[in-house]
Amino acid sequence: MATVRFVYLKAALHRQGVTSPLFRRQNSAVRAFSSVISPPSKAVVYDQHGPPDLVCKVTELPPVPLKDDEVCVRMLAAPINPSDINRIQGVYPVRPEVPAVGGYEGVGEVYSIGSAVKGLDKGDLVIPSPPSSGTWQTYFVKEQSIWHKIDKSTPVEYAATITVNPLSALRMLEDFVDLNSGDVVVQNGATSIVGQCIIQLARVRGIHTINIIRDRAGSDEVKEKLKKLGADEVFTESQLEVKNVKSLLANIPEPALGFNCVGGNAASLVLKFLKHGGTMVTYGGMSKKPVTVSTSSFIFKDLSLRGFWLQKWLTSDKAKECRGMIDYLLGLAREGDLKYEMELVPFDQFPTALDKALGKLGSQPKQVIKF
Ligand SMILES: NC(=O)c1ccc[n+]([C@@H]2O[C@H](COP(=O)([O-])OP(=O)(O)OC[C@H]3O[C@@H](n4cnc5c(N)ncnc54)[C@H](OP(=O)(O)O)[C@@H]3O)[C@@H](O)[C@H]2O)c1
Repeated sequence: MATVRFVYLKAALHRQGVTSPLFRRQNSAVRAFSSVISPPSKAVVYDQHGPPDLVCKVTELPPVPLKDDEVCVRMLAAPINPSDINRIQGVYPVRPEVPAVGGYEGVGEVYSIGSAVKGLDKGDLVIPSPPSSGTWQTYFVKEQSIWHKIDKSTPVEYAATITVNPLSALRMLEDFVDLNSGDVVVQNGATSIVGQCIIQLARVRGIHTINIIRDRAGSDEVKEKLKKLGADEVFTESQLEVKNVKSLLANIPEPALGFNCVGGNAASLVLKFLKHGGTMVTYGGMSKKPVTVSTSSFIFKDLSLRGFWLQKWLTSDKAKECRGMIDYLLGLAREGDLKYEMELVPFDQFPTALDKALGKLGSQPKQVIKF
């Protein structure tokens, strides 16, 4: 735990009249300190849950002494994911105690190490793995065990974003239905990072994808982009307003597995494509609309509805293999076999990046803060 930083954060926030039970608990912990002290850290802090553009403030946190087993990492980049927004809003099942620093994944380089740290050196490129709350800051102090050293030639924007979305795509393709080369999956939200990863990870295994996107100006361009990534079919929702969506498929079999991160009509469209006995996995709810399933889909198609949550998966035994999977995904990214659209944004433009991530400026690429 980055306990010491939080004690200081508490002190800093106390000056602003903010207190937290989290900090009172941590204050009483017994710790062994090394003589190393971190630099001050510029951080995105929220001291109450609420609309992120209102409650997030960029605040300078004072230097902290490192415990013997802690590592101070100079953060290089971290994305703004939908779940980061939900955590700040206080609507995520895991509600960080406030005051808290935003962000959950990211990448940085080792800046300094506590006296008992072995196997990590100044300048190593590292990611928190499993991810860890508090990545939206310039210097992040955490115990050695959470830092995973990665290949230094990895582009920072991929290193920063490799866990939450690509790993979810990988797990969802593996964990629900046994798929073989030639099989097909269908998904909505295909423009999301998860969606783009599903297209490419499926393609690596010879699995075809049917992709559904929102209607928009320039949808032909978006379709082309997804096809370049390996998408077999891409439809806008309005194109699928036909009696039999399957009649739109050329020479592609019916899918046994579908992915839904939107809900509402977009989820119904995924269900319409599924074959008898097919499974739809819901992992997001971007439209905030519920999933509605017709009675006949259950009776005559025997469809199954499942859910996936990476954070839960990361607490399972299988999570031990997580770093091997991350290395596999980073390898694909380095080779150019896994790509997705991102916009690297300087930290001082955080408010604009946040507005874009909140959807205030229309469809935007993934916002990745560059510290
Ligand atoms: N369950 C899990 O463990 C898990 C793990 C990772 C991600 N997720 C979820 O997966 C989803 C995608 O995450 P991401 O980081 O890959 O997304 P992203 O790259 O930030 O892209 C956002 C996606 O959401 C779509 N979208 C935004 N607002 C929408 C709305 N009102 N109605 C319909 N679609 C909308 C966007 O479509 P346009 O291109 O049309 O704007 C885009 O496809 C999110 O719901 C996220 O919470 C869940």
